[in-house]
Amino acid sequence: VGRLPLIAGNWKLNLDHLQAIAFVQKLAWSLKDASHSYSDVEVAIFPPFTDLRSVQTLVSADKLELAYGAQDVSAHDSGAYTGEISGAFLAKLDCAYVIIGHSERRTLHNETDEVVATKVSAALKHGLVPVLCVGETAEDLEKFGPSAVPVAQLKAALAGVPATANIVVAYEPVWAIGSGKAATPEQAEAVCAALRAELNTTLGADAAAATRILYGGSVKAANIASFMREPNVDGALVGGASLDLDEFSAIVRYKK
Ligand code: G3H
Repeated sequence: VGRLPLIAGNWKLNLDHLQAIAFVQKLAWSLKDASHSYSDVEVAIFPPFTDLRSVQTLVSADKLELAYGAQDVSAHDSGAYTGEISGAFLAKLDCAYVIIGHSERRTLHNETDEVVATKVSAALKHGLVPVLCVGETAEDLEKFGPSAVPVAQLKAALAGVPATANIVVAYEPVWAIGSGKAATPEQAEAVCAALRAELNTTLGADAAAATRILYGGSVKAANIASFMREPNVDGALVGGASLDLDEFSAIVRYKK
């Protein structure tokens, strides 16, 4: 279908800037290893804010083929918003992406669909590609079935997004995050297909065909290929396994 697979590592609150430098150097070395080549996959990492300047320096100095971004962005550009980081600042650090609406932020920081939508617009305004996270809890799944909540979250987040916008959607069932219990490839495919149908309705056929939809939730080297075989799964948002260099390198090198 022509969508470049994206393997994204969300470090969450792990690895300070010194640890990040060591990790990125080793990751770059591992990805360059010609005896274990990989192709046609984009790799991105999402370190804590305080690591981003160091990552930028490494990536630009060594011309690494490694994209990166932040794990959140402020809805505001500047002003009296203590503790916030704006999209303008992230763009200046050459971030390509920013994760928005991760379930941990929705739950622990009370981010509503409205806040998520505002952040998506703020990211796009500064030329960042939002990695918009959606997903249902175990309770939602029981009450509403598999697709209703993620599709509603996507619909709400797209309010104000133009059809030509470059976005990535990440389907992360909350019950699969950090639990070691990944969704089955069939479950992931069914929801990702429903999300693509929603993109088609809201943004049109071109956007639906071009937008990458990732699966996230207990992805590891042993199960990545099974997800990547699904037609509507265009990559993975990896949490825990992205902190293990060998595991993450193996995920990047998945073979269908
Ligand atoms: O953003 C990543 C996800 O929350 C998945 O985390 O791979 O540790 O389950 P996990």
